[in-house]
Amino acid sequence: DWTMSSFAQRKIAEIKEVVGDKKVLCALSGGVDSSVAAVLVHKAVGKQLTCVFVDHGLLRKNEGDQVETVFKEQFDMNLIRVNAAERFLGRLAGVSDPETKRKIIGEEFIRVFEEESNKLGKVDFLVQGTIYPDVVESGTSTSATIKSHHNVGGLPEDMQLALIEPLRELFKDEVRAVGEELGIPSALVWRQPFPGPGLAIRVLGEVTQEKLVITREADAIFREEIAKAGLERKIWQYFACLPNIRSVGVMGDGRTYSHTVALRAVTSSDGMTSDWAHIPFSVLDIISRRIVNEVQGVNRIVYDITSKPPATIEWE
Ligand code: XMP
Repeated sequence: DWTMSSFAQRKIAEIKEVVGDKKVLCALSGGVDSSVAAVLVHKAVGKQLTCVFVDHGLLRKNEGDQVETVFKEQFDMNLIRVNAAERFLGRLAGVSDPETKRKIIGEEFIRVFEEESNKLGKVDFLVQGTIYPDVVESGTSTSATIKSHHNVGGLPEDMQLALIEPLRELFKDEVRAVGEELGIPSALVWRQPFPGPGLAIRVLGEVTQEKLVITREADAIFREEIAKAGLERKIWQYFACLPNIRSVGVMGDGRTYSHTVALRAVTSSDGMTSDWAHIPFSVLDIISRRIVNEVQGVNRIVYDITSKPPATIEWE
């Protein structure tokens, strides 16, 4: 008689036993898997767990604050939020190649995480939100919660950490069920997939603060209207991106020369293939009007109607 409840209880007891009075570290991204893993470990060892949340300034509107509120206030976790937006933007200045942007963000992320973990003194365990499909993909078949590990990316060579991976046996929907049972807000538990490099790969070409603001505001309106229309859980992923083109428009007596925002929404079961979501025209109409009216610097909205393949879900 296997229930989520007994799963959570079993894991919490197991983690408590293994960790004893030692210190645990977790890189929290605000994603479903790392959030559920962190809460499970927190229930087991409380303040012996420190979560490091690297805010690279490439998150969606209000997302950073939401992560901080949930984990610091609701769960009373030891959470360090590193506001590293300027560092990331500085390193991205002048860079327009998508893969180079990804590489820079990945490297900088590790650097910031490493700096913070070095400040914590000796830590013995690292929490990771690995889930069953990741285990299968990487070909390591053991389902053990704890396995010894050396050389975890981003940590000093001499820091020998054991990994705590409490979700290794679970599929995504099971992770969500555990998350809900643990009292994690549904906005987090049901969060749509969001790429690690964040808005940096939704602003095409060079990333600037101005372009990030436009993309973030347009995206927030898109999300709000999808929620109002009750379509949130029917669409796999939906977001605004900025193709980095300007076009001529007209406003009042004058011509404008402003940004185009592209809306992307797809249905999918695993992200490997997808179809464009057939959002009702009436909903698209509201979204388009709101974005051009409310977001400065935008005079045109287009809707992406390509499937994957041949397109990818993200534009970069
Ligand atoms: P594509 O764009 O390749 O995306 O069709 C498939 C899924 O992967 C996500 N994605 C990423 N996730 N880092 C991530 O963590 C990345 O660099 C990255 N690029 C794409 C994308 O959002 C979609 O869910």
